[in-house]
Amino acid sequence: MFRSAVPIIFIITSLWASHVGAAVVRPPPLQRSTTPFDGQYISTSADSTAVEWWYLQALASDVEGDNPPANVQILYYQGYPVSDGSTATQSGEPEYYITINGMFANGTVFNFNVPTSTGAITTSGEAVSGKWGDAGEFAVTEDLSSMTANVSAADYGIEASISFVARTQHHFGCNATDDAYFDSAVSSSQSLSTPESLLYKQLGWATTIPGGTADVTLTVNGTKLAFTGTAYHDANWLPAPLNEAVSSWYFLNAAVGPYDMSAVLVQPVNSSLKLNTGFLAKDGVVLQNQCSVVGARNTDISTATPTGSYIDSGLTLPTGFTLSYTLANGDVYSFDLTSQGANPNQAIYHRWIGTATGGPVGGGQETGTTVFEWLNPGMNTYNP
Ligand SMILES: *[C@@H]1O[C@H](CO)[C@@H](O)[C@H](O)[C@H]1NC(C)=O
Ligand SMILES: *[C@@H]1O[C@H](CO)[C@@H](O)[C@H](O)[C@H]1NC(C)=O
Ligand SMILES: *[C@@H]1O[C@H](CO)[C@@H](O)[C@H](O)[C@H]1NC(C)=O
Ligand SMILES: *[C@@H]1O[C@H](CO)[C@@H](O)[C@H](O)[C@H]1NC(C)=O
Ligand SMILES: *[C@@H]1O[C@H](CO)[C@@H](O)[C@H](O)[C@H]1NC(C)=O
Repeated sequence: MFRSAVPIIFIITSLWASHVGAAVVRPPPLQRSTTPFDGQYISTSADSTAVEWWYLQALASDVEGDNPPANVQILYYQGYPVSDGSTATQSGEPEYYITINGMFANGTVFNFNVPTSTGAITTSGEAVSGKWGDAGEFAVTEDLSSMTANVSAADYGIEASISFVARTQHHFGCNATDDAYFDSAVSSSQSLSTPESLLYKQLGWATTIPGGTADVTLTVNGTKLAFTGTAYHDANWLPAPLNEAVSSWYFLNAAVGPYDMSAVLVQPVNSSLKLNTGFLAKDGVVLQNQCSVVGARNTDISTATPTGSYIDSGLTLPTGFTLSYTLANGDVYSFDLTSQGANPNQAIYHRWIGTATGGPVGGGQETGTTVFEWLNPGMNTYNP
């Protein structure tokens, strides 16, 4: 399915120097003034290594025993988030495709990749529609409060119908309404290496549905899977594959009682200028929405600390994360995320599904569900 020298190539939400060399001139990224929030931010094509994708995630609220919540993640792709830098044209792979990953309530995983001839975004004001050949569509409403999505690829064994209603409003990764990048985390006079510059200035992230309710019906190789639960939808883009910018990337996301949250901790390639983001909302009211360089300050930050360990295919991996938020006013919230299963489960990319508990430190504790992932193209080792 995938091109590459890198023998993997699965994917990220949630969450791209280069073969850039000196000669390649890239157009400046589009800014908010010209792009709908959930729209197309950069040009992608089969002849470039640019990548842009729209990610939808749903987790069942009901959990059977120690199984992970039934779940599905659907990614509408233009290009490849992890690659050796060759273009789709050179490697004979499709530029446009839909990836579907998920688990039944009993924990059994399923994965599909559906190539499509096109993958196009159309917009009307802030309303955004995506159409991937005849195999899949999604549509986000003008007020960004809900969306629907379909996959209809019976030949590949997968059909899906999804609808999301947001309970928390859309946001960018830093506390800005007009900047989809992480540049505000670094000073404008700071000199950045190529990977750092890609990460801080060209890797875009727009979260349209940080949390909400999901209604899901799937037919997986003829077996129906339907559930209601929690919803999450974001989009990312970069004019190069992520592994040219990123050595290690943690993305954490959870819905716990009234709280919707996400956090990112990124180690750029050959760099100690680690990026942290934190988003936390309670009943839709934003408590934190920040991006920063790790160590630059002690409040208005989040920390993502891997916990536990297990060994799979010779790799030591965490069984969970402690995700803590220190707000600008000093209040601290802490959540324990625990894995109950992984899919994809690959050396450079794990996406874990599980349960989460937490709340204000010393205050009422809530329970919920979580997705957290480690993209590790740098093959960093975990030493618990
Ligand atoms: C889990 O459920 C799916 C869907 O019903 C079924 O196809 C599969 O065989 C089950 N797996 C196990 C291990 O029971
Ligand atoms: C669906 O069926 C095909 C053909 O039998 C099989 O190769 C594939 O592994 C199945 N996929 C899933 C997720 O069950
Ligand atoms: C999905 O499928 C339904 C039923 O066929 C259709 O009404 C809807 O317009 C489709 N597209 C989206 C984006 O939901
Ligand atoms: C990172 O450092 C290694 C070893 O010095 C070097 O081979 C590699 O080209 C560097 N990568 C980037 C993207 O600068
Ligand atoms: C985000 O920025 C606005 C305006 O600068 C500020 O009022 C608000 O408190 C900030 N929110 C958070 C969660 O930091």
